[in-house]
Formats: sequence, structure tokens, C-alpha cells
Amino acid sequence: MVSRLINLFSSGSRITHLPYPVDFHSHLVPGIDDGVKTVDDSVGILSFFEQLGIKRCITTPHVMADTYPNTPDLINSGMAAVRAQLQPTARFEAAAEYYLDEKFVQMLDQPGSLLTFDDRYLLFETNFVSEPFNLNEIIFKMTVAGYRPVLAHPERYAYMTIQKAEDIRNRGVLLQLNLLSLIGFYGRPAETMARQLIDRNMIDAVGSDAHSMAQARLLVDVMQTRSFAKAMELPLLNYTLAVA
Ligand SMILES: [Fe+2]
Repeated sequence: MVSRLINLFSSGSRITHLPYPVDFHSHLVPGIDDGVKTVDDSVGILSFFEQLGIKRCITTPHVMADTYPNTPDLINSGMAAVRAQLQPTARFEAAAEYYLDEKFVQMLDQPGSLLTFDDRYLLFETNFVSEPFNLNEIIFKMTVAGYRPVLAHPERYAYMTIQKAEDIRNRGVLLQLNLLSLIGFYGRPAETMARQLIDRNMIDAVGSDAHSMAQARLLVDVMQTRSFAKAMELPLLNYTLAVA
């Protein structure tokens, strides 16, 4: 582990490669959320990801009852349209990023209605300002239903503290950092919280959360930071998910 850190910093040249093979947070199904608009956009980002070393991309369109009422059928058909334009070697799949709302809670009771990846990993996000009053109850529901909840970008929520993150993690939730937080893309508070979570070994996964090629390209800037190198030393889920 330590040797990997040294290698990342010893070459003196710009790092352009991600050391893990799987990205599982992005918005690459065209036209169904605030992510990419066209199939060409998706294909371009996916080929850039491949250059960075990503061998498998599980894209995660937003699902929000009010704004993006995306269904598994809609997501999967959009994903298939992109896949049809890819080289047969590229691995591109879809799950979703679920906003924690009433509809989501209802779907927890309906087997098969939620898109997950691998062994029932379920990516979710919450309101950015205030903690949902029933967060703990919903986490309990997710785990009892057999899901493995993954909280997207814990560093971005105004209500998040180290103590709160620790508590959520102790309840069985994996914490997924957005890499762009490390260069201040979402503002200073998110950047500070991101660093603190990494320093305390509380990050279980990282994601690009790419909505566009411009965001994807910023990953190269992220790779030059010391916090990125530290994060890469953690036992991230991105290393252990199957590639082939
Ligand atoms: Fe996202």
C-alpha cells in the first residue's frame, strides 16, 4: 500500500491513470437527467474513461419522484442505446442514484423495483441542506430488505459532520466520495469534509459523478493531489468489484 503511494509521487510527471478499474457513479444515459445530452457525449466520456484505466462503468442516472421519475426500463433502454455504439470490449451497465424521498421508501417494499449493482449495492443521495428526519429508519429498512446502501458524496451535505458520517457508516452504509470534491469543484466546505473523511479512513468508495466531458477531464487534475493518493490507499470497493 505504501509503495503505491510512493510510486504515484516519484515519477515527477503528471499522473493520468486511475489505479482502480470500476467507476459506479456517473450520469451517462443521454437526456434523462442533468447528465449527458447525446449518445455521442456518452461514448466520448466512456472512451476517455477507458484511457484513464476504467474497465467497467456502471452509470447511475438520478431517480427523483418530482424531477427525474426514471424507471428501470427507461434507464436500461437508454443504456442499451449507448452500448450499441461501443466497442464490444467496453463494459457499460446501468444502476441508479436514488434520491431519498417517499417514492423511494415505497419502492423498498417492492422487490425488484430498484436498480442495484453487483451484490445488491444501492446508491442513494439525500437532500443537500437538511438531514431527512427518518434517515436512520430508512437505512434500517434498506439493510433489512437485503440491500447494501452506498451514500453518494457524503462530503457534499451541509448537515454532514464526522460524527454523523461515523454513525451512518456504523449502521451499514458505505460512503462514496466524489473525486471532484478534492479540487474544490463543489466548494470549500465539501473539499474540507472530503479531506477529513479520507484522513480518518472513512471513505469506502470513490466516484467520478461525471455529468459531462468537462467534469470527466477534471479527474486528471484530481489525480495530481495528495488527498487523491491517500484515498487510493484505502480498501475501496472500486478495487474489489468484478471487472470481467
Ligand atoms: Fe450523481
